[in-house]
Amino acid sequence: MTGAGTEQSQVRPEQQDGERGFAARLREQTADAHASAERSPFMAELLDGSLDVAALTTLLAQVHQLYAVLEPEVDALRDHPEVAPFADDALRRLPAVAADLHEHLGDGWREALVPLPATTRYADRLAAVAGWPAGVVVHHYLRYLGDLSGGQVVRRLLARGHGWEEDRLRSWTFEAVASPKRYRDGYRAHLDAVAREHWDAAERDRVVEEARRGYRLNEELFADLSELLPRWRSAPR
Ligand code: HEM
Repeated sequence: MTGAGTEQSQVRPEQQDGERGFAARLREQTADAHASAERSPFMAELLDGSLDVAALTTLLAQVHQLYAVLEPEVDALRDHPEVAPFADDALRRLPAVAADLHEHLGDGWREALVPLPATTRYADRLAAVAGWPAGVVVHHYLRYLGDLSGGQVVRRLLARGHGWEEDRLRSWTFEAVASPKRYRDGYRAHLDAVAREHWDAAERDRVVEEARRGYRLNEELFADLSELLPRWRSAPR
């Protein structure tokens, strides 16, 4: 029985957060931001296979420029107690994204690394959080847990839509991760532990706020990409 007014029902705020876990709170309090980032004409058209491959390479070129800022930041903080649990080489995306770009564009693939305006804003924000370990963790969460969650769906649909082999979509392939599901569970456990041990209530609020900001930056990137859709639409099938 958990009747209202009994002693058992009086839970201290930090207990509430602790029992539910910070990872669950983060997910809940960003669900709306995720949903709007997810709803983009660009992704919908890319996934149904109706766009020229240049749509994919333009997306990957943007993603490359984001990881080019984020991955060195994570490396620089890999011994910091708040960042260490997440700094796992199995996640590295820069070589994978570069390999996909090379495959589709050849040796000159670096010429495609031209930032859209939203990419510049996103990369600037990543650079701005470099000295804030919790900020690096949030952006790590957004990109890598996103790649390990929705990214796996994206990979499957892209492969199906374009008739490609899934393994050749290396940007969303984690060869060193045996089970993305189990990895995600472990990642959330790390988030719970780091929040419990290192982040007070105000820092946890800032982390949630930064995650929402990160989703908005992603949404803006998709909006920039959506504006370019007409140039990638193939002839009617
Ligand atoms: C087409 C676009 C997208 C699709 C289809 C998609 C789909 C999904 C799906 C199916 C999940 C799993 C939800 C669950 O476990 O119940 C997920 C989780 C997640 N996605 Fe996305 N997503 C998209 C875009 C994004 C973007 C732009 C970001 C941010 C960079 C992102 C970050 C995340 C994160 C961090 C999670 C894990 C949430 C958590 O469990 O804490 N997603 N996504």
